[in-house]
Amino acid sequence: MTTTTEMMTGAEIVELCRRHTIYEWSAQSTVDPIPVARAKGIYFWTPENKRYIDFNSQLMCVNIGHGDERVIRAINEQAAKLPYANPFMATDVRARLGAKLAEITPGDIDAFFFTNGGAEANENAIRIARMFTGRHKIGARYRSYHGGTAGALTLTGDPRRWAAEPGIPGVFRIPDFYHGIQRGSETAAEVLVRTEEVLQLEGAQTVAAIIVEPVVGTNGILVPPDGFMQGLRALCDQHGIMLIADEVMAGFGRTGEWFSVDHWQVVPDLITMAKGLTSAYVQLGAVGMRRQIADHFEKNVFYGGLTYNSHPLACAAALATIAVYEEDGLIEKARLLGNVMRGLLEDLEQRHPSVGATRNIGLFGIVELVRNRETREPLAPFNGTSPEMQALGRFFRQEGLYTFVRWNTFFTNPPLCITEAELREAFAIIDKGLEITDRAVV
Ligand SMILES: Cc1ncc(COP(=O)(O)O)c(C=O)c1O
Repeated sequence: MTTTTEMMTGAEIVELCRRHTIYEWSAQSTVDPIPVARAKGIYFWTPENKRYIDFNSQLMCVNIGHGDERVIRAINEQAAKLPYANPFMATDVRARLGAKLAEITPGDIDAFFFTNGGAEANENAIRIARMFTGRHKIGARYRSYHGGTAGALTLTGDPRRWAAEPGIPGVFRIPDFYHGIQRGSETAAEVLVRTEEVLQLEGAQTVAAIIVEPVVGTNGILVPPDGFMQGLRALCDQHGIMLIADEVMAGFGRTGEWFSVDHWQVVPDLITMAKGLTSAYVQLGAVGMRRQIADHFEKNVFYGGLTYNSHPLACAAALATIAVYEEDGLIEKARLLGNVMRGLLEDLEQRHPSVGATRNIGLFGIVELVRNRETREPLAPFNGTSPEMQALGRFFRQEGLYTFVRWNTFFTNPPLCITEAELREAFAIIDKGLEITDRAVV
């Protein structure tokens, strides 16, 4: 079966995948993957033609939507012409992608090092910060995810870090502004004062960089309080610390701007990206740097390399994907439909006692569920699940709505090409599903 072209059923695909391949972040006996045969726009289908609305853009990455012919054509043409050239060569797609990214990234971010994904972009960002400053420490938050490689997992604050500890040396924690649904958020001034104290205690002159997801992704779609990003930028400037914006998930239109830092007009020293850069049609990540950092590597060696750095297929996919954002006005669309999503989320809050909080910025959204509106006890514990959250996940799946259900939350992150009618269709399923969790409210 594995060597013939015979069609496999969904059950056969799942069985072989489970037997011979390893699923990430899971005990293998608990995984129950959906077999996927094809996808178009906001939908994907199983081999048996069950249709799902992709309300998580797979892994918050297929931002332009599935099966866009313009990107597929660009990949095909590049594959026919030059599928690979080593990273010491110069190719037209690499040239054009670097120039295009310089145009759309904030401020004087001007030069890019290409990787296979987000984790490698962050690994290189911290190494660049260390090489540029000659310092070694990196500050990162608990409520964060930065990737699954050694350095990126040490930067990561969420429980995916635990098994990788002790990790790389030199990483310390800076304060979070959000403290869970029961305690809520601090003001920018409060968090910045505590950040300053941590820098003083660490010795600011030993700190190479601070890395943040400007809008936190898997750890809760956390939008920073007003003034926080500007204040963090000022603190970094004061102490000669590089500010790294991890835009792997929040970048490329997801929040209604090209990059989430653009909401606060903050220019980071280094910016990391992946996911929406190619909408995942081909894997690609990048770290972008301001002109003065790029200039540093005119005379100093850039110690970093990857066989697939600037892979032509990926560069071609990125160029075509960026053209789609522009041609279809997807950044603006995410902003406008983000307002519609806000209304739909507020409606859920009003009508469902189990909805404790909702947040969104553009088409980057989340619902936090509670067992009790007064105490705001979450419907599942930190890093855990509950029968009610599992039942909700099963309901979404049965009704053909795919999204991430994590702890006491679920995400609302559709492809940016979604229409208002499709958005409402998905929220109608969510509305029904919440009757299950409402029954758990005491
Ligand atoms: C904010 C953020 N940074 C980094 C990564 C890691 O990216 P990758 O899985 O492409 O290595 C992710 C992945 O989810 C992410 O959300």
